[in-house]
Amino acid sequence: MSAIYNFCAGPAMLPTAVMQKAQQELLDWNGQGVSVMEISHRSKEFIALTEQAESDLRELMQIPANYHVLFMHGGGRGQFSAVVNNFLGEQGRALYLVSGQWSSAALAEAQKLAGEAQIDSRNIVEKHNGLNTVILPDLHKIDADYRYVHYCPNETVDGIEIFDELDSPWPIIADLSSTIMSREIDVSRYGLIYAGAQKNIGPSGLSIVIVRDDMLKLPSLSQSSIMDYRLQVEHGSMFNTPPTFAWYLAAEVFAWLKSIGGIASIAKVNQQKAQMLYQCIDGNAFYRNGVIAANRSQMNVTFQLVNEALDGEFLKQAQIAGLVALKGHRIVGGMRASLYNAMPLEGVAALVKFMNEFAAKHS
Ligand SMILES: Cc1ncc(COP(=O)(O)O)c(C=O)c1O
Repeated sequence: MSAIYNFCAGPAMLPTAVMQKAQQELLDWNGQGVSVMEISHRSKEFIALTEQAESDLRELMQIPANYHVLFMHGGGRGQFSAVVNNFLGEQGRALYLVSGQWSSAALAEAQKLAGEAQIDSRNIVEKHNGLNTVILPDLHKIDADYRYVHYCPNETVDGIEIFDELDSPWPIIADLSSTIMSREIDVSRYGLIYAGAQKNIGPSGLSIVIVRDDMLKLPSLSQSSIMDYRLQVEHGSMFNTPPTFAWYLAAEVFAWLKSIGGIASIAKVNQQKAQMLYQCIDGNAFYRNGVIAANRSQMNVTFQLVNEALDGEFLKQAQIAGLVALKGHRIVGGMRASLYNAMPLEGVAALVKFMNEFAAKHS
């Protein structure tokens, strides 16, 4: 079979080496004679796996010792509610910065759950010369006492990424679902980081939470036990049966990332991949992208065909060429190529070649 490059935004492609290893040991993991899916999460072998996974993630992201790492259920959206329930209390106030579909969904969930507590929001995307541009507000000038400020540094649907560090007098909570481990970040700037696993980590359903110790002292609302950060810290993310197969695959992805030089190394490749694709879009009157250069996502490259009538043909021919899942999110339309860590440079080169040829043929 010739190479298939999968540009899906999530669940996304996983590293081939990881998938091959998982296939090889699917029925007999670690000499146990059974699958990793079939053993107790409390067995010493599985506990060893979880310890290795946490230690590798800590090393990769340089997570300081005063942060807990949780492996939870419920994907990204599960954390939208967990954050509110864990940190807002009855009387709290929080600020949500809105830069696209996912931060907007996090805000809607917070508003739904807040009760007597107060949720404020600010739109931080403006059109400058017709291009979506993020303007980070000076949070130090806001006279309010927020428990936290929530934002989404990479908007998967809109193709908008915020590379500038947010400076805040309140703890920062970041939804890193689609950018985690794609470039280096300073974890110590955040009160809490969360990410649904299905882009740069592993299968969907799992979410990773990295939470600073002092955040756990904030007053919480009553909530389900499995989404209670304090309880999950106490139980080593095993208050109930965790998603063990997803945890295993995440561990394998972390080991793979370490083996290829870690985040600093993959970040360079990611930059190169995104550059190649944006250059193709900018260099071709056939395509356009509506985001200012400084906020163009490295992980989710959105683009439109100037002649939208050709969208269907573009997708059909791309599929034939082995370039799959390029259709943009149903809300924004157009195309989207997700270039997560597992996407090799050759995949992007193949896409660029196809796009140039398609444009030449149909111009
Ligand atoms: C940035 C971001 N946040 C949250 C989510 C929601 O994740 P889930 O579908 O796992 O709940 C997604 C899903 O793609 C996402 O991209």
